[in-house]
Amino acid sequence: MTVTLSQRADAMEEKMARELDHIVIKSRLHMYADGNMGPSPAAGALLKQRPGAQLMMGDDPRLPAMPEAPTLVDFFKYRFGPSMHLLQSAHHAKKAGLSEKMVLACLLHDIAVVGFIRGDHGYWGAQLVEPYLDEESVWAIRAHQVLRFYPDPSVGYEYPQNYLDWFGADYRPDPYIEEDYKRMRNHKWYMSGRLITMNDIYSFDPNLHVELDEFVDIIGRNFKQPSQGLGYDNSPVAHMWRAIIRPAKYL
Ligand SMILES: [Fe+2]
Ligand SMILES: [Fe+2]
Repeated sequence: MTVTLSQRADAMEEKMARELDHIVIKSRLHMYADGNMGPSPAAGALLKQRPGAQLMMGDDPRLPAMPEAPTLVDFFKYRFGPSMHLLQSAHHAKKAGLSEKMVLACLLHDIAVVGFIRGDHGYWGAQLVEPYLDEESVWAIRAHQVLRFYPDPSVGYEYPQNYLDWFGADYRPDPYIEEDYKRMRNHKWYMSGRLITMNDIYSFDPNLHVELDEFVDIIGRNFKQPSQGLGYDNSPVAHMWRAIIRPAKYL
């Protein structure tokens, strides 16, 4: 099994604690994910227990170093979790003859899942890439979150079989998803969102290995990489990229 970034980080945490460099205080979201709803540890008390230690405000020594002006490819290399699902998705889209923009949308459709959050990941992911992609691709990434729950017989898309196992046969999407579906179904870009769901479903293939190299040119032509680096371009989402660079920064 592949070790995720979070598992690697957890394993390193103990090592780092022994070395007394830094005290890591997990964010509220991380603690909820661990099922720990209690109060966060008091930083002051922890600092007293470990004289010489400091709260982590700079680079996280448990994680690979990032370049000063990180690119999208750097995030795939140094921060994102296993990305084979995204690579396969984009590979399928390319083989199906989709436009470069749609191939890139497929490559990035679950960027929030591999980058930082699962719940509502289509909305988060679309927001994260919004300044750097064309509007239709962003719309399609957002829409895949919703459209995946609704069949479209006209293109042969059925409700995913594995959702029956994962969520139960009686699962119904939340009302905000239903409402978005009604809006998206009649949108001029509906089919772009639908194409992501179609390449999404058929892309879990344990025998297909795809390299990111296959898409570096497409990224170069279609992703408006900021020269200052993602996280440092003063865009409305720069802080989201910085949160991925330093996920355990104290403040
Ligand atoms: Fe997704
Ligand atoms: Fe997906």
